[in-house]
Amino acid sequence: MPELSVVIVAADSEQRAVLQVLVDGTSVARTSHTCATLPVGATDQVIRRVQVANPDVILVDIPTENSAMALRAVELIHQELSDCAIFAIGSMQQPQLIVNAMRAGAREFIERPTTTNDLLEAFVRLTTAQRKVRREGSRGKVFTVVNAKGGVGATTVAVNLAVALQSAYGNVALIDLALLGHAALHLNLKPLFTISDAIGNLHRLDSSLLESFMTRSADGLQLLAGTNAPGVGEPSTSEFARLFDMLVNHYRYVVVDASSRLDGATRLVSNLSESVLLVGHTDVASLWSAARVLQFLGETGGRERVRLVLNRFRKIPGFSEADAEAATGAKLLWKIPNQYFAVSSAIDRGTSLMEQNHSEIARSFAGLAQSLTQDDEQVKRAAWSLFKTV
Ligand SMILES: Nc1ncnc2c1ncn2[C@@H]1O[C@H](COP(=O)(O)OP(=O)(O)OP(=O)(O)O)[C@@H](O)[C@H]1O
Ligand SMILES: [Mg+2]
Repeated sequence: MPELSVVIVAADSEQRAVLQVLVDGTSVARTSHTCATLPVGATDQVIRRVQVANPDVILVDIPTENSAMALRAVELIHQELSDCAIFAIGSMQQPQLIVNAMRAGAREFIERPTTTNDLLEAFVRLTTAQRKVRREGSRGKVFTVVNAKGGVGATTVAVNLAVALQSAYGNVALIDLALLGHAALHLNLKPLFTISDAIGNLHRLDSSLLESFMTRSADGLQLLAGTNAPGVGEPSTSEFARLFDMLVNHYRYVVVDASSRLDGATRLVSNLSESVLLVGHTDVASLWSAARVLQFLGETGGRERVRLVLNRFRKIPGFSEADAEAATGAKLLWKIPNQYFAVSSAIDRGTSLMEQNHSEIARSFAGLAQSLTQDDEQVKRAAWSLFKTV
């Protein structure tokens, strides 16, 4: 592994000195420069000095008190030095801080107080991911599917969206976050491991261990199965943040089935998502619930990422799509036709709808996948083969 060059940005002098000792102690990285002041603008001297140092990694210390300035620094550094990996160092006790740091541009969030081993693992993850990126392109995107109320079709949408993405681009993971996971049943898979195993082994989770917890379907889609007993060992939100950081470094698209799970984990994963698909029907109860779910997910920001998917869509005289948007507060992304026989027989037989070539519902999921990925540079080249199964 080539030696990584590291710049440390920390206002606290003691923390700066400790981090330097730890970085140099990993023996795979060396501190090339340290900064005592945090940048406050793009033209700041600090940014210039870091640019001159041209590091592989920038460690930014995020103090528990007054974290806003450090987060702003992460954002500026990310903007001005987009090729460098930023590792934020802070307290794992504040899940929102982890999300904010990752959204600002940090690729890793490392526990404070930090150990040489924490840093070493993060450096190794970076080098491995960079090798993979060189082969395949940039970090993956997350699409999270939640339902407005139980049974309206979140799992059906998540499973068939994942199958459509896998068929068009490959390297797709489906993560079953539901409190009692059904995705394996929909795909007729018999998982040996579940998400609990991945979370339980986070401290040693690398690409190969992650893959060993996944269950593969015949078309190559990789499922991280949900729990098969309700209420077992609730992981913390910071554990989910670590797991998803790993997933986006590994897969091109990560589809999450959150179904009816409305808790901190779903909110965190929604925050990390490119789009959140809020599935509902066109009835009053669904639309009312959708508005409440949107409010819950939007409490920590990112309301605009939540898009409405009307499943089992049927036209109702006097009720327009604009009415559905007004009732829920979310923009309509997609409508999926009501095809009870096709959907229920596919679930019962464990065959995906996408195998029903040329059916209206298979086309609908292919179109949904296409609409979610149309701006992705890295997949444009693969577009010729798009939705080749329909
Ligand atoms: N487009 C559709 N047309 C007809 N029936 C559908 C459609 N989508 C889903 N269904 C039916 O609705 C049922 C519930 O779907 P699904 O399990 O995907 O919902 P969910 O929101 O994930 O439910 P849960 O709250 O249990 O997680 C399915 O068994 C299927 O028969
Ligand atoms: Mg479900």
